[in-house]
Amino acid sequence: MAHSFSNKHIVIAVTGGIAAYKVAGWASSLVKEQAVVDVVMTEAAKQFISPLTFSSLTGRAVFDDMFTAERSGRISHISLGREADCLLVAPATANTIAHLAGGQADNLVTTSILAATIPIIVCPAMNVKMYEHRATRNNIALLREYGYEIVEPETGAMACGDFGPGRLPTWEIVSKYVLRILTDSTLAGHHVLVTAGPTREHLDPARYLSNRSSGKMGYALALEAFYRGAAVTLISGPTTLPSFPGIELVEVETAQEMHDTVMSRYQQSSIIIKGAAVADFRAKHQSAQKIKKQDATYVVELEPTADILAELGRRCDMNHQILIGFAAESENLESEARRKLVQKNCHLIAVNSIVSPSTGFGADTNQVTLVHKKGATPLPLTSKEKTAELMFDYIEDHFLPLQTG
Ligand SMILES: Cc1cc2nc3c(=O)[nH]c(=O)nc-3n(C[C@H](O)[C@H](O)[C@H](O)COP(=O)(O)O)c2cc1C
Repeated sequence: MAHSFSNKHIVIAVTGGIAAYKVAGWASSLVKEQAVVDVVMTEAAKQFISPLTFSSLTGRAVFDDMFTAERSGRISHISLGREADCLLVAPATANTIAHLAGGQADNLVTTSILAATIPIIVCPAMNVKMYEHRATRNNIALLREYGYEIVEPETGAMACGDFGPGRLPTWEIVSKYVLRILTDSTLAGHHVLVTAGPTREHLDPARYLSNRSSGKMGYALALEAFYRGAAVTLISGPTTLPSFPGIELVEVETAQEMHDTVMSRYQQSSIIIKGAAVADFRAKHQSAQKIKKQDATYVVELEPTADILAELGRRCDMNHQILIGFAAESENLESEARRKLVQKNCHLIAVNSIVSPSTGFGADTNQVTLVHKKGATPLPLTSKEKTAELMFDYIEDHFLPLQTG
């Protein structure tokens, strides 16, 4: 199930907001990724960007007038919302949102959407006061009720000088919502809990013990679950990776915080993947003041942290929840993973080597072996994104559907 726009047909409905020019870049990205892109514009949108820009980028004539398009026989007023894979409204003005909420069909954009049978994504973008007005909030709530996907705007400085929510999100974010629509919703109805990243165990206000985990594998797993239609919670230690609004992110720092957050949330999840590299030890005593450099040796006494995976193995309902752990090992990979599988009572352990530069901590690639009760399934050396895909393929093939009753 590769995530790609290749050979997909996307309709972009551009309405009259100041951010319309940004959507030209989105159309260009889609075309570069081999998508077929049709653009439909409102009259107001044409005040902000020329149809010629879009037709030049997409190689296809832009639809702007319902009656001209109909007369030319190129489309009917209802076909735009039927024959593509997805219809993306961006930027979506307060005005068009109000028209859609009221079921109006007064131009080709609103008519196509009212008659649509394909998934619709709406990206509101407007001044903060317009966005926060109760009328707009109510209209957006109605669109949600109608089944449209709403990508919430970003908060920041606006073209008019105001500050707040209302900015069009980046393509980096919106493209993930489109890719989710293009992906089979094999995990719809599931709640997936993923942990990622390292933890930090403080020695004093300046120093901590940590590890080299980048969080990339856990973030890739969370995104893959999102693409497959799951509701996803990502509990993450400190990383430099960007958050994504489609995934609930809970940030933690220490092993104890990771433990407490996981324990307060695991019950709502049907699939739990413990990808975080949680510290096994922490300093028994933390200094409230910065420890001074002295000639004498500085000895840190360590104590073990809570074993989160083992506790989940005891607490989870193994008939209704799938529990998956990661093992980052430097030797005896498979036997170590099997020991963990049994001792911690998991369904699966994904083990990878941390001594090869192309696998494990920090790398963009990984090579994991899935160790389970029936044996071991090696996955190829590939990107962490592809590894996440292959892991979910395995999970779906071997552990779903969960037992019920
Ligand atoms: C300079 C300028 C910028 C505007 N920017 C926005 C905007 O970002 N979002 C919005 O909802 N309306 C914006 N408007 C107002 C819309 O263009 C106006 O409501 C129009 O009727 C929208 O028509 P449409 O929804 O059919 O495209 C702007 C108007 C002007 C003059």
